[in-house]
Amino acid sequence: MAEGINILGIETSCDETAAAVVRDGCQVLSSVVASSAQLHAKYGGVVPEIASRAHIENIYPVITEALEVAGVGKEQVHAIAVANRPGLTIALMVGVTAAKTLAFAWERPLVAVNHLHAHLQSALLEQDDIELPAVALVVSGGHTCLYEARSALELRLLGRTLDDAAGEAFDKVASILRLPYPGGPSIEQAAKEGNPNAIPFPRTMLGPDSLDFSFSGIKTAVLYYCRGQDMKGQDMVATMDRSQIADIAASFQAAVVEVLVEKTCRAAELVGARTVLLGGGVAANSYLRSEMARMCQQSNPPRTLVVAQKRYCTDNAVMVASLGYHLFKAGMWADLDLEVSANG
Ligand code: KG4
Ligand code: ZN
Repeated sequence: MAEGINILGIETSCDETAAAVVRDGCQVLSSVVASSAQLHAKYGGVVPEIASRAHIENIYPVITEALEVAGVGKEQVHAIAVANRPGLTIALMVGVTAAKTLAFAWERPLVAVNHLHAHLQSALLEQDDIELPAVALVVSGGHTCLYEARSALELRLLGRTLDDAAGEAFDKVASILRLPYPGGPSIEQAAKEGNPNAIPFPRTMLGPDSLDFSFSGIKTAVLYYCRGQDMKGQDMVATMDRSQIADIAASFQAAVVEVLVEKTCRAAELVGARTVLLGGGVAANSYLRSEMARMCQQSNPPRTLVVAQKRYCTDNAVMVASLGYHLFKAGMWADLDLEVSANG
């Protein structure tokens, strides 16, 4: 057997079918991602049944490719890690069924991974010697969660969204603005040409001490801005020019980022965090990364921002295999009757 501990990671919580082989928790031997995003584009959001069907078609070729690219045979895989929560139940079931089958057939341990905790592990791939305690923000299409991190395996939930997730708000606003799906990258692109101060969209802080989030208000504010307060006016987006769309995108992005950064700052002060961890699809946003870095630098004493490489912000299996390695080493193995859960 090759040196090191090789973990095969499998991820199917949403619309990406992903498999990866990671050695010793940090050495990426392969990372394969097949996205069904284009199949959902005309619906403006992920359709669970379509995602699940795509996972069924993709799971075997994706796992096979991950093993081939890694140059690792089944006898060199020490454990199989799979995201089993939270996510779309019928999507998670495909990855979990595949992982259980391989664990049984290859007689290897099965490790269950929380998808949100795995997003934070992406940030720790290159830098795992962080100063603790840390606060950790996961911003994805389905979740917005703030944690206190005592270690990679010990996370305490401090706050979460009460309605839409941050990524969901990006996707919905992109749809209002008729920008291509998925919305996050489209809004970021459009915002580059816009003025972030053009429109004072609301910053929902939910009270001075709250660590929870709410993004449905800003989504509605954008809708009203584009269609009139009574929603009876014509959809003005069709007649807006590029710079007007850019101003809306930039103003929306600035408002969401301000809330994310402010709440993270509050949480960091509360727990005396020396480090801020940032992960999840929205963490690929350059404006969020730079504003979070600015907040960390301006804190007294300054905090260290540890953020995932952009390619590992959105869903992937490297983060699952990497966290799976730590759980494997800690003896936190799952049984073959492992179930999926929509909630964390
Ligand atoms: O973590 P992820 O891949 O999937 C979930 O676990 O949900 O996150 C996907 C979300 C989508 O809502 C997408 O629009 C958003 O991340 N996203 C972005 C960017 N890239 C992806 N949001 C803002 N800016 C980006 N550059
Ligand atoms: Zn995710």
